[in-house]
Amino acid sequence: MSKANMAAAPIGIFDSGIGGLTVARAIKKLLPHESFIYFGDTEHMPYGDKSAEAIKHFCLKISEMLIAKGCKMLVIACNTASAAAFKEVSKEFSDIPVVNVIDPVVTYVAKNKSQHKIGVIGTKRTIGSNVYQKKLKQKIKNAQVTAVATPLLAPMIEEGFFNNKISQAVINSYLDKPRIKDVDSIILGCTHYPLIKEEIRNYYGTRVEIVDSSQIVAKNVYDILAKHGLLNLGKKKSEYHFYVSDFTPSFQQTTKLFFKEKIKLEQLKLWGE
Ligand code: DGL
Repeated sequence: MSKANMAAAPIGIFDSGIGGLTVARAIKKLLPHESFIYFGDTEHMPYGDKSAEAIKHFCLKISEMLIAKGCKMLVIACNTASAAAFKEVSKEFSDIPVVNVIDPVVTYVAKNKSQHKIGVIGTKRTIGSNVYQKKLKQKIKNAQVTAVATPLLAPMIEEGFFNNKISQAVINSYLDKPRIKDVDSIILGCTHYPLIKEEIRNYYGTRVEIVDSSQIVAKNVYDILAKHGLLNLGKKKSEYHFYVSDFTPSFQQTTKLFFKEKIKLEQLKLWGE
């Protein structure tokens, strides 16, 4: 494929469900000329309580499909999948750039040297992998990292529970522990969590920086496309396609909340019945 054709190709973005739409939306905003294909593996959501082996298997299959559809880049818009499968996916598909959602955030936080007490919340698999803890400590000498698994949050959000008393109560109970209470910044280590930023802000007030990966990752996508000469500078109008592995009508509704506009979701079966 010529470089110009390659640049006009879509970006492949995927998550366990629709949380990665928070990243897709930030990419659409920053890079309005780029097309993308989004895949939410709703059949296997939540990834947070699956084994690393199972997640690797899902991610390799999804990546293969996105590449077969002509994608020029892969964005693993899921922290759990980034923690479990980034190495395998980037090794298997080394012909194209693969972006995860963890490294750009660690780099962003590391640049802000004044922050030493860093909190991270995410799924059991992300927190249990220790990836944030290790990477942050490698980059920031004095970092005190407190990572807390918050397994109820992604399914709660996916079910549409946010911006209400129930979500606030669940969040307060997770955050109201001495170690995670006293931080300078809190990393939203799950792509579902930008939807509960308000509740987290209500809990911490303005003294704590809330690190939301969606814009940081979108900027990283821009930088990597530019570095590889893959930015779509042509006249072709951008197109967006959205797929899920298991479709229920309520997704259409929830999708609107994640993407902040109505989109058409189609089912794409990657696994047998
Ligand atoms: N959105 C996924 C993440 O960023 C988590 C949801 C899940 O457990 O599947 O980790």
